[in-house]
Amino acid sequence: MTIDVRNEDGIQIWTWNAKDRSTNVVDGDALAALDRALAGLKADGAARGAILTSGKDTFAVGGDLRRIEAMARGEIDVAALSAGITDVLALLRRIETCGKPVVAAMNGSAVGGGYEIALACHHRIAADDARLQIGLPETQWGLLPGAGGTQRLPRLIGILRAAPLLLEGKNLRPAEALAQGLIDQVVPRADLLSAAKRWILEGGKAMQPWDQKGYEVPGGGPEGKAGRMFFTGANAMLRAKSAALYPAGRATLSAMYEGLQLPLERATRVETRLFVELLCGPVARRMLRTLFLGVQSAQKGARRPKDVPPFEPSKVGVLGAGLMGSGIAAACAQAGLEVVLLDRDLAAAERGREALRKQLDRQVEKGRMAAEKRDRMLARITPTADFTALAGATLVVEAVFEDRAIKADVTRRAEAVVDPGAIFGTNTSTLPITGLAEASRRPESFLGMHFFSPVERMQLVEVIRGRQTSDRALAATLDFVRRIGKTPIVVNDSRGFYTSRVFGTYLTEGSALLLEGVRPALIENAGRMSGMPMPPLQLADEVGLALMHQVREQTKKDLGGALPDNPTARVLDVVVGQLGRTGKRDGKGFYDYQSGDKQLFAGLSAHFPPAAEQPAVEALIERFLYVQALEAARCMEEGVLLAAEDADVGAVLGWGFAPYTGGPLSLIDTVGAARFVARCTALAAQHGPRFAPPALLVEMAASGKRFY
Ligand code: NAI
Repeated sequence: MTIDVRNEDGIQIWTWNAKDRSTNVVDGDALAALDRALAGLKADGAARGAILTSGKDTFAVGGDLRRIEAMARGEIDVAALSAGITDVLALLRRIETCGKPVVAAMNGSAVGGGYEIALACHHRIAADDARLQIGLPETQWGLLPGAGGTQRLPRLIGILRAAPLLLEGKNLRPAEALAQGLIDQVVPRADLLSAAKRWILEGGKAMQPWDQKGYEVPGGGPEGKAGRMFFTGANAMLRAKSAALYPAGRATLSAMYEGLQLPLERATRVETRLFVELLCGPVARRMLRTLFLGVQSAQKGARRPKDVPPFEPSKVGVLGAGLMGSGIAAACAQAGLEVVLLDRDLAAAERGREALRKQLDRQVEKGRMAAEKRDRMLARITPTADFTALAGATLVVEAVFEDRAIKADVTRRAEAVVDPGAIFGTNTSTLPITGLAEASRRPESFLGMHFFSPVERMQLVEVIRGRQTSDRALAATLDFVRRIGKTPIVVNDSRGFYTSRVFGTYLTEGSALLLEGVRPALIENAGRMSGMPMPPLQLADEVGLALMHQVREQTKKDLGGALPDNPTARVLDVVVGQLGRTGKRDGKGFYDYQSGDKQLFAGLSAHFPPAAEQPAVEALIERFLYVQALEAARCMEEGVLLAAEDADVGAVLGWGFAPYTGGPLSLIDTVGAARFVARCTALAAQHGPRFAPPALLVEMAASGKRFY
């Protein structure tokens, strides 16, 4: 049975435990089971009420996105889809109007459709566990909550509180969810059912606030003073945040604005219409494919060589306790692994652990982590300067300075003591793996494990196969990445690998525009409007201009002095070489950071005089996106990438490539290879060979083939 019903103290306990699924999902089975349980509650005259809880680790994780995505892929039968949603909404309405109190007892995360069911209950209690997530994240996939969430949440907590949650799709921990009114109680896990029973037995009302006489939206409706101010401001705010690119934001605002002026049944019809519109549009399809399906299949090891037994690291060595090393050590410790964190001297290694302690202290202060958990995590990390402490490690991640000689040295010293079969991953961001593997006695166990900064927030790990890397090492690395809860893509060795190589073209385009005399402010606005998370000049400041300069010098040395002419190099020669502006860290780069408020450096115009005629912003947006898409296609052609999915997942998770496009290759599919190639050919004639379409695309244009 999907929902098991039992009776305790005159109260029905509904335990939701989907068959053959690891988590509860709001699918046809679940809804039918809920319907039967509800009928049983009504029929049982003695029952005082019901408690909905789950037999899984999670309460319920939302709609069946796989089914939704399948629908989005094919032709959507709008009438059938709308009818299906209407049935769900009617069921939820029957729950809240059944006349007996129904409590959601959330023993695990309740997100999306799972939380929408909880919203239709009369009372919500969550277990006191910081791992729990509660919220409506649908906007992350270009959708809005389609089972009443856009209507019940603002009716429960008011427009001003509900709007940011709906628009950003942020999930909350129980303590925050309680503070914001999304739930009514947080109790120790063991008391969940007794607290729910108590609420019912003590006369908990079987009526939603919005069904009570004289109900008003908390803080006032859309036409109240606060509501009017909010909707005027919100529209402008969304536009500033590239709303035009994300129709879900606008649709969410419409659903709230229109819906909150109607009775619930009619309001949810407005929501359904907007939901179906989004699902029929291209943005949700692309976002679902990359950010849901693509990410899931990457996490499950889509590129893992079969027939290699699973790998379970027992002890992990991390070399270098700097920014990246301490972050990687933390991710391992969080996953319950023992970590040896090694640096040049004990003090440096300890500083790495201290940095982590500070971070965790903040989590504890905010109530997001229990103090004991912090202590357990820190206890798993052993700082040291002594290589012999690595004895017995079965996996090593190297994150020392980006210097070939230092990396070679620590590789040799670590290999001398670790387990003979140990996997050795380098976190280098720029040095080719096959070259670094020359320092290794076991190049078949050597590969790249490219983490992103800040490690605790960035989900992606780019796994780079060197020429000699074995299937065993690759499979073990993917098992490790999964174990620490990150998402891997697999690429073959190439300068800049995949992510840095493609991402670099965005920065290069910013430099090219500067050299053409495009005003810096226009460049930056176009970058923002293209949907990239940061405009190119600001991003270069963040990366560090001095660092970029230095990487270039290293590359020049590697390639024997000759380096093709590159706009970034020419710009850096001026900005770093002549002006001594090195980036954000030193307070001056393309921007001035001294005054706290950053300002584009006024002196740029003396060195990059603005042209009399400035291009249209659309032309710049096209260049920013196309130049990256082209480089991603070249990576496919050269076999740096093995799958289109990895290109798109890596781009969106790795450097935030305009998520509404679904990634660079999705973008090409959307535009159509033929049109894309024609545009790039024109751009190449105007701006140079970096826009020349690779043969792969020319072929696709001729044959009508697509990446997906
Ligand atoms: P960092 O400078 O913060 O840390 C490097 C650490 O290595 C320092 O604590 C240093 O004392 C230690 N170290 C240097 N020589 C050593 C030796 N011989 N033995 C033991 N420890 C030694 O540098 P960060 O940013 O953590 O970078 C580390 C590596 O990660 C580099 O290869 C970098 O290219 C790469 N990387 C950096 C990213 C970033 O955003 N910072 C992103 C992805 C990769």
